[in-house]
Amino acid sequence: MRLNIPLLSSVVQRRPFYITTPIFYVNAAPHIGHLYSAVVADAIQRFEKLTNPDCNIIFSTGTDEHGTKIQQAAAKNNLPLPDYCTNLSQEYRDLFKDFNVDFTDFIRTTDEKHKIAVQHFWKKLMKKDYIYKANYSGWYSVNDESFVPETHTKDEIIDGEKVRVSVESGHRVDWTEETNYMFRLSAFKTHLLEWLKTDGVITPQKYQKQLQEWLQNEVYIPDISVSRPSSRVHWAIPVPGDPDQSVYVWLDALVNYLTAIGYPDEDAMIARGRPWPADVHVIGKDILKFHGIYWPAFLMAASWPPPRRLVCHAHWTVAAAKMSKSRGNVVRPRHVRLAPPALRYLLLREATMAADANYSETKLINVSNSELADTLGNLASRCCGAALNPRGEFPPLHARELALCGRDDVTARLRDSVERLPGEAPSL
Ligand code: ME8
Ligand code: MG
Repeated sequence: MRLNIPLLSSVVQRRPFYITTPIFYVNAAPHIGHLYSAVVADAIQRFEKLTNPDCNIIFSTGTDEHGTKIQQAAAKNNLPLPDYCTNLSQEYRDLFKDFNVDFTDFIRTTDEKHKIAVQHFWKKLMKKDYIYKANYSGWYSVNDESFVPETHTKDEIIDGEKVRVSVESGHRVDWTEETNYMFRLSAFKTHLLEWLKTDGVITPQKYQKQLQEWLQNEVYIPDISVSRPSSRVHWAIPVPGDPDQSVYVWLDALVNYLTAIGYPDEDAMIARGRPWPADVHVIGKDILKFHGIYWPAFLMAASWPPPRRLVCHAHWTVAAAKMSKSRGNVVRPRHVRLAPPALRYLLLREATMAADANYSETKLINVSNSELADTLGNLASRCCGAALNPRGEFPPLHARELALCGRDDVTARLRDSVERLPGEAPSL
């Protein structure tokens, strides 16, 4: 008997390109740093569309809505938690629309489908014995939503009061003793180091080196707590089978990258073209450890491959300082007086991934005038000029041809010589 097997090409769908931004905490309104991650991811997916026009893009973003930090923010604003989260989440959605961030999926961690994904993922780790219960004590930073090892804390005087802070983030930590579920992170040190040998898995390279150093230099990688007592953190996803415990917000948040592609529903994932591993997670340097150590370890524990690439970027500062409410230097994109394309242009043009960039309105105005209006505006107006283009015609963009020409010999040689140019040019 002959089996009637259809031609492979008719059943195998092309794999989509899957890119994400972090999901943002709803504890405050978005600022230019949050917008920056979104426009970087948007620029990458637009480039992918140009050079690979047949490719289906999944571009996921969203809001991170559980945990102590959000509980406190809602209380401060005198609003019921669901209303508070919906308002702030909508602000992110509106902001991205205004700035032409062309996302395909927007995940809220309070969505029912996300709760199902997290609980499914949790059960998988539990079944494989990567989660166990223990009495735990340590310093906890609500701002970072993270336990901080004793050696990474120091005393500081803030507003005349002696407090303990995290050396890394500068945020206050409080001593906490509780029963938690722990994740066997220690079991993954070798696997993580192996993954981190992959060329280009974290860009720029300095962040890849940083992760390797963290893993190599710590003699002992401790297991991490992945739940909190629900008596302390009630605004969270309950641990399956143990309602006295809430799933740790970072485990909850990271799983959003799976929720977006239909996990754990097999049919939904197939319908989306099985876009895993993710092609790119765009993140800020503040959350490198969570994405470069915890996330790949969680995935490996669940027998899923780690992401293909993390694109990590440095921070925007204002008046050369970190943006903070207490300093009063937070720049909200909606309060910027120039139109969205100007700010979008400045963000992408001015910052490099590896070093912090400083924002100022003067810079925004100068760059908009000299480059957007003068240089590019001039070019556009000359192209429209009667002498050059009497009928004022503009051919449509031939995406397919453009993609092909990027791969031919002439272009490859040209690109290669441009890349070598800085090394060959005599220094001035
Ligand atoms: O960390 N400059 O959310 P978050 C540039 N919910 N980018 C900045 C920035 C700055 N000054 N400040 C913030 C969280 N960002 C978690 C993420 S993901 C599974 C969970 C950007 O609201 C940057 O991408 O604190 C940073 O990593 C992210 O916003 C943190 O946003
Ligand atoms: Mg943050």
